[in-house]
Amino acid sequence: MTLRSCHSVVLAAGLGTRMKSDLPKVMHPVGGLPIVGHVLKVLGQTGSSRLSVVTGPGMPELEELVGDLAPDARCFVQTDRLGTAHAALAAEKALENVTDDVLVLFGDTPLVTAATVEKVRGALAGGADVVVLGFETDTPFGYGRLLTDDGRLVAIREEKDASDSERKITFCNSGIMGFAGEKALGILQAIGNDNAKGEYYLTDAVEVANAKGLKVVAVAGTEAETQGINTRAQLAACEADFQASKREQFLESGVTLLAPETVFFAHDTVIEPDVIIEQNVVFGTGVTVRSGAQIRSFSHLEGADVGNGAVVGPYARLRPGTVLGKDVRVGNFVEAKNAVFGDGAKANHLSYVGDARVGEASNIGAGTITCNYDGFLKHHTHIGTGTFVGSNSTLVAPVTLGDGAFVAAGSVITRDVAGDAMAFGRSRQQSKDGMAKVLRDKLKKAKNQKS
Ligand code: UD1
Ligand code: CA
Repeated sequence: MTLRSCHSVVLAAGLGTRMKSDLPKVMHPVGGLPIVGHVLKVLGQTGSSRLSVVTGPGMPELEELVGDLAPDARCFVQTDRLGTAHAALAAEKALENVTDDVLVLFGDTPLVTAATVEKVRGALAGGADVVVLGFETDTPFGYGRLLTDDGRLVAIREEKDASDSERKITFCNSGIMGFAGEKALGILQAIGNDNAKGEYYLTDAVEVANAKGLKVVAVAGTEAETQGINTRAQLAACEADFQASKREQFLESGVTLLAPETVFFAHDTVIEPDVIIEQNVVFGTGVTVRSGAQIRSFSHLEGADVGNGAVVGPYARLRPGTVLGKDVRVGNFVEAKNAVFGDGAKANHLSYVGDARVGEASNIGAGTITCNYDGFLKHHTHIGTGTFVGSNSTLVAPVTLGDGAFVAAGSVITRDVAGDAMAFGRSRQQSKDGMAKVLRDKLKKAKNQKS
């Protein structure tokens, strides 16, 4: 990482008309994190010392998101959307008196890595005044084309302004640009709007800088990293690439994926080596899976911590606040929410365990339900250590089952059960010898008389 200071400006004021959405484009998620969140995360990793985000008018939810993800960032509102250079100038105040690096990035390009951003800064440190991150693609449609001459970057031509021969160029503008700090404002302010869209194009910075006799260079990144999102199809393609790289990363780090292409991760999924993940598993945000655990087919996990050696699923759902200790078993059609399972606890079949603590080595029988909600408030269920809950029991919270307690199958438990006590919350069974035959004969006779 260079020791030069850096001010980054992220442009995110566009409506994203091509997405056909009420949600600002950069708020659509990739890997469970809004697109612009990926850009902010990478800038955090590159030691960007100051950060500005340009939003549009009437986008309070975007400003709130930026406040959450990058509390030190300053938001500027671009009141009229007059193009990318105009957007960068919305942050004019922040660019005064900047001496080292200025980066301008688009909020709709989520997969760029810190190493690539560092490449741009490296070129600035090497004496360039303007640096453009380009990439080679077979499908350049829609991107600005980089016009080079003998290693020099001469201009960037937008799709709508390009000639037929320029449109054939496959070296394109990723949208990430670096400027020598003290020259950035002068260049941006000199950009006009004489083009097909009548917009102030940031890309014209290249020609402006060349006219001033400054040093303008292009550095290359990969298409996978620099793809921009303008449409739902591009959002889907970007998600697919994000997933592919996560799968590769986990396989590389020692995680077994039985069918990698059927497992989906979030941006913050943590999986330790020697975890086995079966087919068709989905990770929402906030999941950690510890070494030796196994996630069986068709399970969905979100906001959960799975302990060493635990087995989840098949067909399990772990919701936020679920913490599974060592060697826990959560089996088929079990839903857990805000539930802490001690080491060796088991809920193997068909249960709902919500707002609960299940002590070590306790067993939750099939069909057990914690009734945690009364329509207004949530209540807690505390299950002690080595406790046995018989099948098809209903635990009406708030309620405590003591250590070593035993709940008979089919019970409705509304009061606390002491440690080592046995609770029956069901009606007593009666059996009458021969009664079934008497009833059968009677019914048969009635049917015969009718016909
Ligand atoms: C832009 C580049 C193009 C490049 C491509 C890479 C320009 C003129 N074109 O085209 O060379 O190949 O990105 O993905 O820069 N924005 C604002 N205010 C505005 C307009 C845009 O903040 O007035 C923001 C948008 O929110 C978006 C970013 O700037 O995050 C890029 O705008 P977009 O309209 O997507 O530009 P492209 O057509 O993709
Ligand atoms: Ca774009």
